[in-house]
Formats: sequence, structure tokens, C-alpha cells
Amino acid sequence: MTGEMEFPAALGRLGTIARARFFDGPTPLEPMPNLTRHCGGGQLFVKRDDAMGMAFGGNKVRQLEFYMGVAREEEADCVLITGAVQSNFARLAAAGARKLGMDCHIQHEERVNNSDPGYHNSGNVLLERLLGATLHSFPEGENEQGADRKLGEIAESLRQAGRRPYIIPLAPDHPPLGALGYVVAAHELLCQLRQSTLKVDHVVVASGSGNTHAGLLFGLRALGSGITVRGICVRRDAASQRPRLIARCGQIAELLEVASPVIEEDILLDDAFLPPGYGLAGEATLAAILRGARSEGLMLDPTYTGKSMAGFIQQAEHSGPDSTLLFIHTGGTPAIFAYEKELAAAVDKFAEIT
Ligand SMILES: Cc1ncc(COP(=O)(O)O)c(C=O)c1O
Repeated sequence: MTGEMEFPAALGRLGTIARARFFDGPTPLEPMPNLTRHCGGGQLFVKRDDAMGMAFGGNKVRQLEFYMGVAREEEADCVLITGAVQSNFARLAAAGARKLGMDCHIQHEERVNNSDPGYHNSGNVLLERLLGATLHSFPEGENEQGADRKLGEIAESLRQAGRRPYIIPLAPDHPPLGALGYVVAAHELLCQLRQSTLKVDHVVVASGSGNTHAGLLFGLRALGSGITVRGICVRRDAASQRPRLIARCGQIAELLEVASPVIEEDILLDDAFLPPGYGLAGEATLAAILRGARSEGLMLDPTYTGKSMAGFIQQAEHSGPDSTLLFIHTGGTPAIFAYEKELAAAVDKFAEIT
């Protein structure tokens, strides 16, 4: 099946690219009056991409619509994905596969130095088991090419057994089909803004693989919007992330068969909240998780949205009263339960946050 939606001509082939549908948009756009008061700068809003129907939602739902669209077109009967042990992408791939009547194989990369049994058994891992995914381990951890190679071997053995596997690729040399989900999100956001009186100046979003960040930025610029998009680095530092984003934007342009509207100055990155590293939360991140929960009832996680909220709060505190800032809540909710110890300790440590 190809995409059913009509998109503006500036988005090129977007409406013709295979796409499965996993949620009914648009996701809510909500004011954050309490956090606005706390930060003392501009008006703060949140786009609730954590509030989607499928398996606790999140940014990867939008991305999977495009990967799974291809999987369905190729008549795959199982999908394969590799990621960190608490990957939200893997959990959602398993859910999407089930919705389309497929099996799912998940390869867990031991990227995060966390020996807590909760990290290995609760949160996304528990949900993957409920979804009946077959779990594989990649003990080596941080090695994108190696993880992809190993996944290729699993796919080959499935093929030998007569199955039709589809691999969801993660390494940066593959076309970033998932980023198209955030080109769609940019269009959705601009439609929401047009229908309200709201005018957004700045967006803040987590930047990991970069598909969310690049897709959103590409979509906004292609549609003529100058809203700034600041990516909060959650996986690698800004110097390493920047060339990836530039490459991603070029690849999106190729997929859509349009010229890239993104210029290098559009790519804004902040890696101040990355330490102590991927999947590990520093003090500002833990404090931001509590601040988001206690001011606006938002559920944020230590790997992605806690860090992006820490960056958002910092930008909000330095913003002028006439500006409007939008936080993209990219989900990650189930991972909260895999970090029970760290989060319980944070509750005791940051008792003053109300
Ligand atoms: C909850 C959440 N937010 C943000 C991200 C980062 O998104 P991207 O990989 O598109 O940069 C991820 C990636 O897994 C995620 O799970």
C-alpha cells in the first residue's frame, strides 16, 4: 500500500511512499503553564508524541510506519531489528509487526553499562516478551556495522528456513526511511499551528540516530517554516552528530526527489546533557524528569526525553517573554520501569523539586 495522504508538492514523493498506519494523528499540542512559570521565559508547549495508540507510543511509531510499509509491500513474514537492550524502537517494531501479522526478531546490543536485573528484564524487554518477539543478544555492544552484520546472519538463517525476513536497518549508510515519519510530523505540526492562534519559534527534540531531528527540520524548511530545531544529543557528541544530520538531510532529499532545503546553519545541537553517556542519566537529566512530572504530569525517561527536557528547560530559562518554545515528547515511557533504582534514588535526592 502506498501513502494515502495528500502532501504539499514541496514534500516531493512523500505521499507515494509505502506506509503502514499505526496511529490516528495529530498528536496533542498542549500548553505547559506550570513549567512556563517555573522557567520564567517564553511560553512553553509540548507535542505529545508519547500519546499514541500503539504499545505506549513514541517517535518510533512514526518512523516504523515507513519501514513496515516496505515490509508489507515486500510480503515479509517477520521483521528484524537491533538496538540497545531498552530500545523503544525494538518494542514498537514488535508491536507493529504483530499488527501486520508478522513475527519479530530483536537483537539486544549490550551498549549500556548497567548490570541491574531490572534493566535487562523490565520495561521494554518485558513488553517485547509479552509481544512474543524472539530475543537475540549482541554482547559486543557499541558496533553499528557489526550489529547489522549479525542481524544479516540471523535473517539469512531465517531465509534458509523458508521465512521472508525484512531488516529494519539502523546504520547510517541506509536510506533513512524512518525520518520520513518526521517529515510527516512537520506537516502535521504546521497544520495544527495554522488551525490555532499559536505561533511557535523554537522546537527542542532528542537527537539519537538523528532521524527524528533531521526529518522534522527537513519538513519544516521544505514547507517554508523558519522555526528553529535544537537537537539534544543523547547518543554521541555534537561534533559526531552534525555530519550524520547533514548526511540524513541529503538522504531525505534523495528519497523525496526534491532539493534539500536545509542549510548547515539550521543544524543546532547541544550535547551538554549527554554525559555520563548513552543510556545513563546525569543530575540535570534526573532533575528534569522530576520537574516534568511534578509541573506538568509528563512521564520522561533517563535515556531520551529526560535529557531533551533538561535541554529544553535550559533554553526556556534563557528565552525572552515574547518567544514560544515547543518540546517534542518522543516517548520512551516503558523504559522508566527499567531504571527503577536510579529514579527512586532521584526522588529522594531531589525532594525540593515541586
Ligand atoms: C523515546 C525516544 N526519544 C528519542 C529518540 C531519538 O530518536 P532518533 O533515533 O530518531 O534520533 C529515541 C530513539 O530510540 C527514542 O526511543
